[in-house]
Amino acid sequence: MIQVNNLTFAYLEGVEVLRDVSFSVKKGESCAIIGPSGCGKTTLLYLIAGLLPIQSGEIRVNGTATTRGNIPMILQDYGLFPWKTVWENVAIGLTLKHTPQREIRKKVVPILEELGLSPFTSFYPSQLSGGQCQRVAIARVLAMNPSLILMDEPFSSLDAMTREHLQTLLSRIWEAHRITFIIVTHSIEEATFLGKRVIVLSERPAKIRAVVENPNAGDPVFRSSRTFFEISTKLRKILFSTNPEAQA
Ligand SMILES: Nc1ncnc2c1ncn2[C@@H]1O[C@H](COP(=O)(O)OP(=O)(O)OP(=O)(O)O)[C@@H](O)[C@H]1O
Ligand SMILES: [Mg+2]
Repeated sequence: MIQVNNLTFAYLEGVEVLRDVSFSVKKGESCAIIGPSGCGKTTLLYLIAGLLPIQSGEIRVNGTATTRGNIPMILQDYGLFPWKTVWENVAIGLTLKHTPQREIRKKVVPILEELGLSPFTSFYPSQLSGGQCQRVAIARVLAMNPSLILMDEPFSSLDAMTREHLQTLLSRIWEAHRITFIIVTHSIEEATFLGKRVIVLSERPAKIRAVVENPNAGDPVFRSSRTFFEISTKLRKILFSTNPEAQA
């Protein structure tokens, strides 16, 4: 579904951020991207979303070049409209498309139910916890029936318990809707739990250090398995090694 070929990118200020990055993500697959702070993960997501111009190399989504604004992104700070209720925030995409109220209800009600937000439909974001806000952000994207979602550190400002709960929720949604996910994270365990394929980037300028296949990702019992521990250990070693070839 996503093909990134020989992508190299530098900001105008001369900061080289990505160097010859190539990888692919299959339709319906979840992909986690992990790498040191400042290496270029957010830049890579923005390039995939079409929010930054391609300078060298190519990105193809479903066989065509990405265009600005057609791929939903979930960010760390939720991006909700503070003056709109939970219901209005979730329905906003459909409302802007002038979808009839009856159809909006048909779409939004089950999504709010699935995300445990039904009791909070008339609440404003300031009346919600961080975890609830992030669930609203996920619900808003789901309401648009996306085939691909990009996420940049979506759970990093949440406490450990809420974070784990939302990871499980996300894997359930992924299982039920078969949406292709790319999630950028600082957390090795989060990458292991959520990414069927984990891409490890080097320090800036980011190069691909390893692509780790992780077929058990998303399975609720995986978190407490031996393989989970082994994959996390492997990722940790790759991430902290200054000589990646030594890991082979
Ligand atoms: N608009 C910009 N103009 C110039 N340089 C930028 C811009 N945005 C980011 N950078 C630089 O590009 C590099 C990569 O930034 P990016 O935000 O992609 O990193 P990241 O891997 O997402 O970091 P973090 O893990 O801390 O979120 C950094 O050195 C940053 O200073
Ligand atoms: Mg970032």
